[in-house]
Amino acid sequence: MGNTLASIASVKKRDPEVPELLADLKTLPDVELTEVGKLIKKILLLENSTGNPQDFETVYEAPGPLESDECRADTCCVWKYVAEEMEIDFKGPAGRCKEFARQATCLGFHDAGTWSKTQGGGGADGVITLMGIRYRSTINRGLKEINSKMWQYYHKFHKYGAGMADLIQMGATVGAVVCPLGPRIRSFVGRNDNSEPAPEGRLPQASQDAEPLIALFEDKTIDKGDLITLLGAHTIGQQRFVSEQQRHSKGGDPHSSTPGVWNTKFYVETPRNDTPKRIFKFHSDVSIAQYEESRDCGGYAAAYIRLSILGVPHINNLIQCTGVLPLRTESYTAPDEKELNEWLDSDLSQLVVLANPSFTSTPQSKRIIGL
Ligand code: HEM
Repeated sequence: MGNTLASIASVKKRDPEVPELLADLKTLPDVELTEVGKLIKKILLLENSTGNPQDFETVYEAPGPLESDECRADTCCVWKYVAEEMEIDFKGPAGRCKEFARQATCLGFHDAGTWSKTQGGGGADGVITLMGIRYRSTINRGLKEINSKMWQYYHKFHKYGAGMADLIQMGATVGAVVCPLGPRIRSFVGRNDNSEPAPEGRLPQASQDAEPLIALFEDKTIDKGDLITLLGAHTIGQQRFVSEQQRHSKGGDPHSSTPGVWNTKFYVETPRNDTPKRIFKFHSDVSIAQYEESRDCGGYAAAYIRLSILGVPHINNLIQCTGVLPLRTESYTAPDEKELNEWLDSDLSQLVVLANPSFTSTPQSKRIIGL
């Protein structure tokens, strides 16, 4: 730990003074920007007073059934039906977001995050799922179930205009807002799908130190503050494969004491030594969580919008469909708080029983681990 802290302390601040613009927004004059182009430009430049990255109020009403001409005529209509189906799939019985929501949040990052400013290639183009077998690579192993779900959505909604790249990013924003207290991130559609595999080595590993991680994300125009903010997504997570590599049988262990709830406990708990036994900390998170940066939901929303359009060449032509998202759950009390806390502090053997899906037959244990 001493070495980690020393290495963090030596990381010089390289964040650009002004956040970088992306793709066509870098070159188009303001007079040629669409309303969406102007909005995304403000969000990227962190002009929060006029470019709020969240919208808590707008509700989109579908003009007709999915198959109707009225629905086909309105780009956002199919997305209303997609988001409704995702909400049902993503929400668990205790009101927390469950594994599909967690994986969808991570999948959005793993698709878009393959983009590199200096080397090109990759980006939010749906290829992670369209290439089918890529989830089998170690880094994407925890995304198998959401990949299958995305194919189900694709088979049902593609004929109405929903592409895979947009399905994945809509999944990430539905995934976030379905978690109690989660951000309601403005959601845009109109990305192109691609079937060219993304270059390898563009995604981070949990074993990495802060310095290479910061450099990796800077090459995606994501500065240190945004990286820390984005890592807040781990507050909902329950890893399954990192513990396996470390020879622990702790699959399903969460990264905060409130798995499936989108709060800031992750930041408070990650650097501490007195957290409940089951909390599983990635080396990368412990290393990075020492930084003092913006950690609120608004920060996440702006950083995620940037991430969700990496590699998209025509940002000015995207369409905003934020109104299709479920509304945010603004307060949450766990109905099973006592059992959850007992589980979080339980020892390894009990955890294996609770966390191994083949043993989780009781509704209570399913609720606790979010299955
Ligand atoms: C330094 C950067 C990052 C590293 C090293 C990292 C690493 C990991 C690892 C190893 C897992 C566990 C996979 C498993 O065993 O199932 C995970 C889960 C997760 N990651 Fe990250 N991640 C990073 C950044 C991000 C970002 C930027 C986001 C979102 C924008 C994100 C969202 C998630 C979520 C939601 C989960 C939970 C998945 C679940 O519970 O099934 N991560 N991450």
